[in-house]
Amino acid sequence: IALAGTSATFSAFAAKPLVIGFSQVGAESEWRTANTVSIKDAAKKAGVTLKFADAQQRQENQVKAIRSFIAQRVDIIAFSPVVESGWDTVLREAKAARIPVILTDRDVNVADKSLYVTLIGSDFVEEGRRAGRWLVEHAKKTPGKVLNVVELQGTVGSAPAIDRKAGFEEVTKGNPQLKLLRTQTGEFTRAKGKEVMEAFLKAHGKDINVLYSHNDDMAIGAIQAIEEAGLKPGKDIVIVSIDAVKGAFEAMMQGKLNVTVECSPLLGPQLMQAAKDVAAGKPVTRRIVTEERVFPAEVAAKEFPTRKY
Ligand code: AHR
Repeated sequence: IALAGTSATFSAFAAKPLVIGFSQVGAESEWRTANTVSIKDAAKKAGVTLKFADAQQRQENQVKAIRSFIAQRVDIIAFSPVVESGWDTVLREAKAARIPVILTDRDVNVADKSLYVTLIGSDFVEEGRRAGRWLVEHAKKTPGKVLNVVELQGTVGSAPAIDRKAGFEEVTKGNPQLKLLRTQTGEFTRAKGKEVMEAFLKAHGKDINVLYSHNDDMAIGAIQAIEEAGLKPGKDIVIVSIDAVKGAFEAMMQGKLNVTVECSPLLGPQLMQAAKDVAAGKPVTRRIVTEERVFPAEVAAKEFPTRKY
């Protein structure tokens, strides 16, 4: 009896687990699925109570989720914003409720930067530059030849779509060997990537030399469209993509994709650490950038066994 009483006394004073409300974009890609797994696993390992909400690619669902986290008085709100703009009001509400906000993966465009504590994730502009640099080097192998490029953009208004386009343009603009024929959104999904590539092929057929895809899922969808059109992906049409998910490595090993620029979805451990630091009142840097590499097809078979997503 005495022991039971003692342990009850202790548990009454035990630290309460940290509660994080997390609003995820959706499940649009292999990358996103790996990101969700990373966050859920890291929360479990860190002893954090995670309230997880899937926004199904809709900003209004994310706003609703954030308001519900405020009403539930979670300790920290974290989210990966589907688009960049339109967050001022709801983030001001979180600030008024004194709930710190951490961004993961994607940035927001707000006038008052104090509305969030930190952004953990990739440098998307640099990813676009890396894709562009690879293509510039590739073009040098056929001096004087003009390569017609089509581009599959990510979700309209999202940070990765805006930044990957900008970074790629920065290093390819003015290059006389590279001509952008068409650019359109494929919404970061395989189905839409295939559909839009079909339309590109209908309009330009064999004139297309290069596909630049803002993520691997759209590239994989486009590969299907290219094959169905009787062309060889990776050869007739060179494919430059971003993410470095396992599906891209498989495509590279089959000779159907030429290069993928890494964008790591494994942000869970960094999010848990930052959340704990913020809750403990420790200083946290405004920007935590993920380290990433470029994987051309030549290294795919060697690197594949080590890939975690
Ligand atoms: O924000 C990261 C991007 O979102 C990934 O590149 C893409 O696959 C995902 O849907």
